Amino acid sequence: MSNPIIVALDVPSVDKALALAEQLAPAVGAFKIGSELFTSAGPDIVRRIRATGAAVFLDLKFHDIPNTVAKAVAAATRLDVQMLTIHTGGGPEMMRAAEASAQETACALGRPAPLVLGVTVLTSMDANELGAVGLAPNPGKQVERLAALAASSGLRGLVCSPLELAALRQQLPSSIQLVTPGIRGPGDAAGDQKRTLSASEAIAAGANWLVIGRPIYAAENPRAAAEGIRAAL
Ligand code: C5P
Repeated sequence: MSNPIIVALDVPSVDKALALAEQLAPAVGAFKIGSELFTSAGPDIVRRIRATGAAVFLDLKFHDIPNTVAKAVAAATRLDVQMLTIHTGGGPEMMRAAEASAQETACALGRPAPLVLGVTVLTSMDANELGAVGLAPNPGKQVERLAALAASSGLRGLVCSPLELAALRQQLPSSIQLVTPGIRGPGDAAGDQKRTLSASEAIAAGANWLVIGRPIYAAENPRAAAEGIRAAL
């Protein structure tokens, strides 16, 4: 996966997702399948996207007891996804179980292990929301704490917002992969994204992978939009 662009397939139908994947596969690094598409289309959507030759990022944000998360990670690994997400708030034992399951399942299949990515604080959570669930009302500190915990629990990557990149790069070992949504070019509509960076700014700030949705799939020519972003990196 040398192309850092991951296209979020946030589209309502399987047909639309497959058509986009076929059109974009040669121009991007991977496709992100989230809860909506996975819940409506089932695991077969992963197989069909993989059949285009593209890598898959399965973004289901597992958060459960260690044994259950380990089994879900094993199932995702057998589906041959290259990246998947878990919530770091599930704790160190859960994170260690997830990483071990990815490694052991992939090893048994003779494949590289998928990158298990930790989600720290959802960007929809502000100080008030954190306070409401009994946490210190400081999103930056909570991200820092969970990121350190993820690294010490053996995770090899994290999802983070563009504005968290610089601080996490300073804090974390350089081997930790950072995956960042909230990417917008100068001509793109921000939509509901409040804190954005351009693709090249995010890479300069330390991102390894960029999750891009609407600027690509909602463009008049999605393939040209993806190629344009890649060329500007
Ligand atoms: O269309 P857009 O480029 O905003 O899509 C970004 C993708 O990244 C969406 O799938 C969204 O759910 C996801 N995401 C995000 N912000 C986060 C975490 C995930 O935009 N903090």
